[in-house]
Amino acid sequence: MSLRGMRMVVSAGPTFEDIDPVRFLGNRSSGKMGFAIAAAAARRGADVVLVAGPVSLATPDGLQRIDVRTAVQMHAAVLAALPADVYVGAAAVADYTPREPSPRKIKKTPGSASWQLELVRTPDILADVAARRPRPRLVVGFAAETHDLEHYALGKLRDKQVDLIVANPVGTPGSGFEAEDNTLTVFMADGRHALGTASKAQLAEALLDLIDTRLAREASANAIDATGDRTPT
Ligand code: CTP
Repeated sequence: MSLRGMRMVVSAGPTFEDIDPVRFLGNRSSGKMGFAIAAAAARRGADVVLVAGPVSLATPDGLQRIDVRTAVQMHAAVLAALPADVYVGAAAVADYTPREPSPRKIKKTPGSASWQLELVRTPDILADVAARRPRPRLVVGFAAETHDLEHYALGKLRDKQVDLIVANPVGTPGSGFEAEDNTLTVFMADGRHALGTASKAQLAEALLDLIDTRLAREASANAIDATGDRTPT
């Protein structure tokens, strides 16, 4: 089975949440993993929409790129790009955003040693995609963790109702955010698959092979169901 003709939506990069016109809350995602997945899928003939947070990466050939800045914008752009056969949520989406970004630069309060910024939750794009009807045939999330990787990856698989969680350790030198290489393990309801440590381009290919296999397995299960439903003549 090939990804040719399949529609795939990929999110990548960080989101930036504005505090005021000069400051924002961000994270260290470079977007390289999501861009590598989108580029490899486009090379395999998929119809790819890449929803990118603020990154300094060139647009891969053969796909549609939509640039966004905030989690709320990414949420809207991803949902607008559906329906799709596959969603890959590789973006490091901010979980919280300032309640009210200030239109003017916030000044220090003289004599005050601290400052409190009120944050509110952002929408969970991955969970919303998985709950969407028609649901993509495969919903793939990421889990970037500094500790208890398996525990948190399995929790995200269950809580967000996704098909695959691609887990990678972050916070150790040479892996994860900003690095050229990554170490990935894919968790699914019926087991796990270690993709090992490799370049993000190589891991993207390995992940797409796995996605391909899952789609083929699902398609043949549906075909068997359809045959089983037929009343014998
Ligand atoms: N994600 C999302 N929308 C959010 C937060 C996360 O779509 N508002 C997606 C990410 O794109 C990723 C997955 O959820 O595919 C897990 O993201 P991660 O930041 O590791 O976990 P969180 O769900 O945010 O949980 P926590 O920060 O508590 O680990």
